[in-house]
Amino acid sequence: MTPIYLIQDRLVSKEEVRVSPDDRGYYFGDGIYEVFRVYGGKLFEAEAHFKRLERTAAAVRIDLPATSSELKKQLEQLIAANSLIEGTVYLQITRGTAPRAHAIPAEAEPVLMAYTAELKRPVHMMQQGIAVVTMEDIRWLRCDLKTLNLLPNTLAKQHALDQGADDVVLHRSGLVTECSASNVMIVKQGAIITHPADNLILHGITRAVALRLARELGIPVAETPFTLDDLRQADEAFVTGTTIEVTPVISVDGIPVASGSPGPVTRRLQHAFELAISSCIPQ
Ligand code: PDD
Repeated sequence: MTPIYLIQDRLVSKEEVRVSPDDRGYYFGDGIYEVFRVYGGKLFEAEAHFKRLERTAAAVRIDLPATSSELKKQLEQLIAANSLIEGTVYLQITRGTAPRAHAIPAEAEPVLMAYTAELKRPVHMMQQGIAVVTMEDIRWLRCDLKTLNLLPNTLAKQHALDQGADDVVLHRSGLVTECSASNVMIVKQGAIITHPADNLILHGITRAVALRLARELGIPVAETPFTLDDLRQADEAFVTGTTIEVTPVISVDGIPVASGSPGPVTRRLQHAFELAISSCIPQ
């Protein structure tokens, strides 16, 4: 079946999609995006994703082509058109088309594109855990905005793969921020510690869900920066993200985290996350 894309407010087949070479997404990476998770054919945490999209759009002065509730309806139609049950929706809005010039063109109309992708839950990684390597965070100072321009993230991810690891943990002068496409948390003496949701990290939706679940379970949470040494000496470490859910980190730069196997707090959170997913799937 040919994939169906959402272009502006129209569903079209992939072959019909045309992108102008003057799209500012090409020239400047001038655009914003969201990656939604779909479980049981339903958008997971849709409101939180749209809130973040609205916040990013306002911060970079892109006018969203429709309201969040209209966009949500369009994405639901896109999911249905592609018969997607388990996977992701990628939604991107660039500033629009205009001859290349740095200044924001007054006349450009934002270009919206969305598609769905089938994606199985990363069961193996969630069970076994992942290996990470550490790397200086060289990104800009507005990592809270979900914008295009992901070259530092792609280079960081490739750096990890080149070393036989699964991902990187980024740090600024020894203070851990996040991973290439997920947030990172450690557990020390029963408490979860993670970087505060400021300008240096993406305010992950999965991060927020995991922290909410932790608080409901009575697990203490500290949103405070921690160091590479804290990570190395942690009792447990795990990452959170739309595609990776809650996944244990079992080694850092080739050295095991604690015993080198997923810890009890991570397992409790994974279990709680599992319940959160099932409660959103229509029975
Ligand atoms: N990435 N940090 C970064 C840098 C990210 O790119 C992402 C998500 C996250 C986790 O956020 P959330 O829980 O809302 O997915 C943290 C998406 C999946 C991507 O770029 O593909």
